[in-house]
Amino acid sequence: MGARDEWDVLYKRDDLTVSEVRKVSGNPLLPGEVRLAVERFGLTVNNATYARFGDDSVIAFWRVFPGPPGYGRVPVWGFARVEESRHPGIAVGGRYFGYLPISTHHVVAAEPGDRGFVDITAQRDFLHPWYRTYELVGEPGPLDDRWALLHPVYPAAFNLADLLERQAVLGTQSVVITSASSKVALALVEELAARQVPIRAVGLTADRHTAFVSSLELYDTVVPYASLPSLKVAGPAVFVDLTGDPSRRAAVCERFRGELCRTVLVGFTHPTATVLPPPGLAGPEPEVFFTPAVEAETIAAKGADSYHLRYAASESRFVRYTRSWLDIRGGRGPEAIVDSFRTLIAGEQPPGVSSVLRP
Ligand SMILES: NC(=O)c1ccc[n+]([C@@H]2O[C@H](COP(=O)([O-])OP(=O)(O)OC[C@H]3O[C@@H](n4cnc5c(N)ncnc54)[C@H](OP(=O)(O)O)[C@@H]3O)[C@@H](O)[C@H]2O)c1
Repeated sequence: MGARDEWDVLYKRDDLTVSEVRKVSGNPLLPGEVRLAVERFGLTVNNATYARFGDDSVIAFWRVFPGPPGYGRVPVWGFARVEESRHPGIAVGGRYFGYLPISTHHVVAAEPGDRGFVDITAQRDFLHPWYRTYELVGEPGPLDDRWALLHPVYPAAFNLADLLERQAVLGTQSVVITSASSKVALALVEELAARQVPIRAVGLTADRHTAFVSSLELYDTVVPYASLPSLKVAGPAVFVDLTGDPSRRAAVCERFRGELCRTVLVGFTHPTATVLPPPGLAGPEPEVFFTPAVEAETIAAKGADSYHLRYAASESRFVRYTRSWLDIRGGRGPEAIVDSFRTLIAGEQPPGVSSVLRP
């Protein structure tokens, strides 16, 4: 161990129930590099998704923060402070939000930009800039934990709301959303309501989550997955899938084959999820929704300033709204982190509870 107490949490890439905490001693910085001390990060199934598809997805997430052979560091989003800098444009003490490993520290080769800096480390140049951008942020505030948790996933909800708002103009009557209890899904239906998009929101969720999701009164209809055969929706309808489960996707497409006008594949919450959709889904050709690409298209069409203004207002409203139903639990140190991640991948995290952790 060096002068700092530094460690990584390593996960076995092919078995996420196996983890190990390994002490490390940080190498001296090269010119242009900064050493970030991780302050806190949120955990949602989004992080489990990075790990589950770390080796076989289009984006190989295990390559982002590698570990020893067979192991890797799970990517998370959170706040970090510059502890040491060999970049003349980046001061020690600056606080940033970005993509981090589950570690005490992270070293990046930084290139200052408009909103913070971009990581130009060659090993990560395969990543979309979205994952390499570190946003300069202010000092900690009362909503920081919520923001750390929701800021990484809210863009998916916001951009899906744009898609559905356009669909409503074209006559779409309903949206059917699986994993209706996920943050992305709840943020999407809350945003549709705030924009008064005239579209009926129909949510499918686990039996054990149905009462909770109904109690939020965000959807027009909420039913457990088992009720799909008797569920009716007004067409034309858009299907937004967040489970990634091939049989659920196939069942929804089959049930509403006459009503669906678009099938949008967004998430992978269920452990049975596959990256590629099963072949031969009934109804429209499925579309893979990759938020960074969709957001970049909107920014190119409407301008960055107008997008970011609209986005920030919606995100801020949703983050404040979650105070009424989302219990954020803190934790510190490797044991708390490993325990929270275990709960998450075991599917034991109730939808009204999330973890924000500090190394
Ligand atoms: N395409 C994109 O650009 C994009 C962007 C952001 C996020 N995403 C993806 O969207 C998904 C949702 O992310 P999130 O942050 O909103 O997740 P989240 O809030 O943590 O989702 C929790 C929900 O997922 C389901 N779930 C979790 N573990 C499960 C298990 N073991 N078995 C069965 N169901 C389980 C449950 O929903 P139900 O009981 O309601 O099914 C649970 O309430 C993730 O896969 C994420 O990677 C995609």
